[in-house]
Amino acid sequence: MYRLIALGLGYLLGGIQTAILYGRLQGIEIREHGSGNAGATNTLRVLGKKAALIVFIGDVLKAAAAVMIAKLLFPDTSLLAGLYAGIGAIIGHSYPLFFKFKGGKGIAVTVGTIYFIDIRIALIVSLIFIISAWTTRIVSSSSLLLTGFIPILLYVFYKGSPNIVEIVCLGVVIAGITAYRHKENIARLLNGTESKLGSKK
Ligand code: G3P
Repeated sequence: MYRLIALGLGYLLGGIQTAILYGRLQGIEIREHGSGNAGATNTLRVLGKKAALIVFIGDVLKAAAAVMIAKLLFPDTSLLAGLYAGIGAIIGHSYPLFFKFKGGKGIAVTVGTIYFIDIRIALIVSLIFIISAWTTRIVSSSSLLLTGFIPILLYVFYKGSPNIVEIVCLGVVIAGITAYRHKENIARLLNGTESKLGSKK
């Protein structure tokens, strides 16, 4: 039962779609500009650095809130409850109830989730993302690398846990959802047309 409650809580908090709300405050519909994605990267393209930072922090904080509330509600099973809440937030961010189910790709939400699940994993995947984005100037492939390492690192750090199979499966779900949300980026990466940091599309 705690799994469903954590998922639902995460879904509702994840649906507070920062990029869409901030865009509207600035008088634009972010989903009609740039890549069409309602996230920090597209906000950077369309509205600049300050706006992107605000959206990124907002998305990290809503994931953090979901994970922390779930952990407080279910202290005996806080790791799993936090993971379910984080997955709920990623789904709510990607398919938001109050914004016609058209949201973002879930990377900032994943970062927020993982920082409040396990800081060691968060620091490692952040470093992987920074090195990849710095060298390739491509956010999407760096994001996919970041999420791809999550199930591997969950296994490395929790292999002694009696719930290790469920924990790793949840990591695979996080990587799977974000890969699915990046399917158009993957197609562009394969044909060499993915946009780089600094470009307007
Ligand atoms: O965080 C989303 C990022 O990985 C890709 O965004 O706008 O380039 O499709 P975008």
